[in-house]
Amino acid sequence: MSTRDRHSGRSRTGRPPERSQRSATSGWRVFAAVILLLSLVLPITSAQPSPSAPGPIQNLSIAAIPALINLTPLNSTRPTIQLSLPPTPDLFLTFNLCSLTSNSSLLPTVLISTAADPAWSLGARSTADSGSGGTREGGHNRRSRQGAVWSLVWDKGFGNWTMSGMGQGEQVKMLLSLDVDVNGAFRSGVGAGNMPTYPNYTLPPAQLPLFASGAGSSTSSLTLIIVPTGSSPTSDGLDNSLCAIRTANISTGGIASARNAVLNRSQPHWMRLGGEEGLRSAWGAGDLVAGGSNYTAWTLDEAKGELSRPVWFATKQAGFSCPLVLPTSFCPSIAYAAPLPLDPTSPTHPLSSLPSNITDQLTSNLNALSTSLLSTACGRDRYSFASSCADCHTAYRDWLCRVLIPRCAGGVDTTADPAPQVTRRTVDAPRVPGVVLGGDQGYDELLPCLSTCNAVDRACPVNLNFRCPLRKHGADKSYGFLGDDPGYGDGSADLGVAAGDGWGNTWCNP
Ligand SMILES: *[C@@H]1O[C@H](CO)[C@@H](O)[C@H](O)[C@H]1NC(C)=O
Ligand SMILES: *[C@@H]1O[C@H](CO)[C@@H](O)[C@H](O)[C@H]1NC(C)=O
Ligand SMILES: *[C@@H]1O[C@H](CO)[C@@H](O)[C@H](O)[C@H]1NC(C)=O
Ligand SMILES: *[C@@H]1O[C@H](CO)[C@@H](O)[C@H](O)[C@H]1NC(C)=O
Ligand SMILES: *[C@@H]1O[C@H](CO)[C@@H](O)[C@H](O)[C@H]1NC(C)=O
Ligand SMILES: *[C@@H]1O[C@H](CO)[C@@H](O)[C@H](O)[C@H]1NC(C)=O
Ligand SMILES: *[C@@H]1O[C@H](CO)[C@@H](O)[C@H](O)[C@H]1NC(C)=O
Ligand SMILES: *[C@@H]1O[C@H](CO)[C@@H](O)[C@H](O)[C@H]1NC(C)=O
Ligand SMILES: *[C@@H]1O[C@H](CO)[C@@H](O)[C@H](O)[C@H]1NC(C)=O
Repeated sequence: MSTRDRHSGRSRTGRPPERSQRSATSGWRVFAAVILLLSLVLPITSAQPSPSAPGPIQNLSIAAIPALINLTPLNSTRPTIQLSLPPTPDLFLTFNLCSLTSNSSLLPTVLISTAADPAWSLGARSTADSGSGGTREGGHNRRSRQGAVWSLVWDKGFGNWTMSGMGQGEQVKMLLSLDVDVNGAFRSGVGAGNMPTYPNYTLPPAQLPLFASGAGSSTSSLTLIIVPTGSSPTSDGLDNSLCAIRTANISTGGIASARNAVLNRSQPHWMRLGGEEGLRSAWGAGDLVAGGSNYTAWTLDEAKGELSRPVWFATKQAGFSCPLVLPTSFCPSIAYAAPLPLDPTSPTHPLSSLPSNITDQLTSNLNALSTSLLSTACGRDRYSFASSCADCHTAYRDWLCRVLIPRCAGGVDTTADPAPQVTRRTVDAPRVPGVVLGGDQGYDELLPCLSTCNAVDRACPVNLNFRCPLRKHGADKSYGFLGDDPGYGDGSADLGVAAGDGWGNTWCNP
């Protein structure tokens, strides 16, 4: 561990000084030091393409420096780690490879960036940058032409990287990966799998194919149990006791039984709720007490002997006019109350399809996006390591659905902390110009989390010109977020304050 003295006398202009002016042996010193120890485990037999690509990225942040960090081994299921370091003017990084894969010529790619949103690609025409580290024997680190990305050069298991005089707000991030090369292209046989490839790159249609119940789910026999929270075994700490839950279910009259159902368990459909994709079923229970009554629910699979953990929810007030909208093949990530017309034949039934003028808009926007994306040669010119054209398409769909299908705010006192960010929408002040939702009365919209917009900005190529409003310049008219710091509180758990808690309280629409 080598903590050096604070360097004195170097100007802090907020810009990194010219690397080439610095001699590696001039004895200048830096303040913050981090040593990273890295192991690799990749048995040759696992060099099969994995079912999904890119391989999952593990995100770590280092809270304080100096530090000595032993990273978990990179392997075929966890090929990539993304690390963020705390902001510091001066930084000295030392890397050691603790062990190698059975293919000892396969070394991890290490990319280092000071950009706020790193592209994770060195790009063409990079240059050797001896001032940033490396050795005469092994070679020096390389730096991108634009200057914000470096690749580490290994010298027999050792690597180093240095930067001093970083400006305020500049922060070092690192990507350590067995999966990609310095330009973010996938290495064959490590994590790359069924990615569409150029020139046969396909994007999903606006209306996704719905997968009916598959082989796995035909044997499952999920049932739902709902009890009023006041009578729930969770108040005695018996959250996971099936016996206690059954007793409460019977003594409270089997609220979720079929005779109270407004929607019996649906066939499992492909949904993308809370960013997690999978086959899910939906239930609709009637006969609940309106006006903020609290309930606790579980699902039980008798055949497999599996009980879920409890979830909590509260009812809205009587007369709440927004129907519940179920995930659909157009918007598999929507499952909330929206200001859409009720189903006239069955007003209590949750909506399982969207009005055609909404699906028309979704289709034309998504088709236009696909056309623009495919013109950028998806799968050939990767614009980013972290995202593909398909990721951009998915993030855009999630955002578009939230904009075209706004979420109605609670209408009962909520204990959400922070307070829900709500805006009144009326005929004169609609969410989307020219689109009248919620009838003459208007409705209160729970604003989409800014994270839903940022996700598109991050996942899509720059030349699409998708821009989210800035926090200080009107973003609060359309999005929920906290404060002015772009690195905090956009509604994603990553940035400090998740949109919802385990009790159904939500402050922005995630
Ligand atoms: C880590 O971050 C990347 C990009 O920011 C994201 O795609 C990935 O899902 C994150 N991984 C986890 C495990 O949260
Ligand atoms: C990869 O590493 C993670 C933890 O570091 C471990 O849980 C997982 O089982 C490993 N996978 C393989 C294929 O070794
Ligand atoms: C070992 O890894 C290197 C670099 O990725 C690759 O070129 C080579 O084919 C691999 N060897 C084997 C036996 O898999
Ligand atoms: C990187 O490490 C080598 C070998 O110890 C050393 O010669 C060089 O000065 C270091 N470079 C930087 C920028 O610290
Ligand atoms: C293109 O990809 C699709 C889906 O992945 C596949 O069904 C089709 O056969 C491919 N076409 C060619 C020409 O490779
Ligand atoms: C809950 O109670 C109802 C009515 O008594 C009953 O039909 C149902 O089977 C019970 N559910 C479970 C999982 O025991
Ligand atoms: C749900 O199923 C029960 C019996 O299985 C039936 O009586 C009831 O009408 C169904 N409810 C709906 C909304 O389909
Ligand atoms: C529901 O629970 C909240 C606390 O989570 C409480 O403030 C509220 O009074 C409860 N509502 C009823 C009707 O009991
Ligand atoms: C769709 O049509 C309905 C009824 O004509 C109208 O109230 C609503 O505003 C339209 N929605 C959109 C998104 O255009």
